[in-house]
Amino acid sequence: MPTDVTVAHDPALVAAALRKGLRSLAKAVVVITCRHGGQRHAMTATAVSELSMDPPSMLICVNKTASLFEPLSQGADFCINILAAHQGGISTLCAGREKGEARFAVGDWRQSALGHAYLADAQASFFCRNVANMAYGTHGVFIGEVLEVLDTAPINPLVYMDGRYGSFAVAPG
Ligand SMILES: Cc1cc2nc3c(=O)[nH]c(=O)nc-3n(C[C@H](O)[C@H](O)[C@H](O)COP(=O)(O)O)c2cc1C
Repeated sequence: MPTDVTVAHDPALVAAALRKGLRSLAKAVVVITCRHGGQRHAMTATAVSELSMDPPSMLICVNKTASLFEPLSQGADFCINILAAHQGGISTLCAGREKGEARFAVGDWRQSALGHAYLADAQASFFCRNVANMAYGTHGVFIGEVLEVLDTAPINPLVYMDGRYGSFAVAPG
C-alpha cells in the first residue's frame, strides 16, 4: 500500500514527493571528468544513463551551478568513470568543497591518449566526445558519443541509495 499519494499540482510539493520517491532508486556512482583551458575538472554524479548503441552514446545531467557545467557548455569532451565499491572516498571528494585539480588528489588518475583524465581502477571508463546538449530546468543534459571504453573485473560497483553508499547484493530466490 502506498504510504503517501501526491495528487497536488503544486510543483514544489511534487518535487518534494519526487525527491522522496527517488530515495529508493539505486544508482551506480560515477565521476565525470573533463579538461578545459588547461585545467582538469571532476564531479560525482548519478544522473547518468546509457542512451544508444547506434551510435554508442551516453547521457549525463549536470546542475548549472556545478563547476563542470561551464566547461561542458563550451564543448569540452568528457569521461565517465564508474566507481568501484571501495571508492566512496573519491565520490565524497569529487562532490565536496575542493574544486578543480584538488579533486584528483585521491585515486589512480591517468591521462588517456585522447587527453581525458580517467581513473585506472574504475569499474569502467567511457571516453566521450561532447556532441549535443540541451538545458532543462536547473540542469544541462549532455550527450557523449563514446569513442573508447576501458573496464576492470571483478564487477562490484559503488551504489548510492537513500542518501547512503553501498554495494550490490544478489537477491535471494
Ligand atoms: C552521490 C551523488 C550524486 C550526485 N549526482 C549528481 C548529478 O548527477 N548531477 C549533478 O549535477 N550533481 C550531482 N551531484 C552533486 C555534485 O557532485 C556536487 O554538487 C558537486 O560538488 C558539483 O558542484 P561543484 O563542482 O561546483 O562543487 C551528486 C552528488 C553526490 C554525492
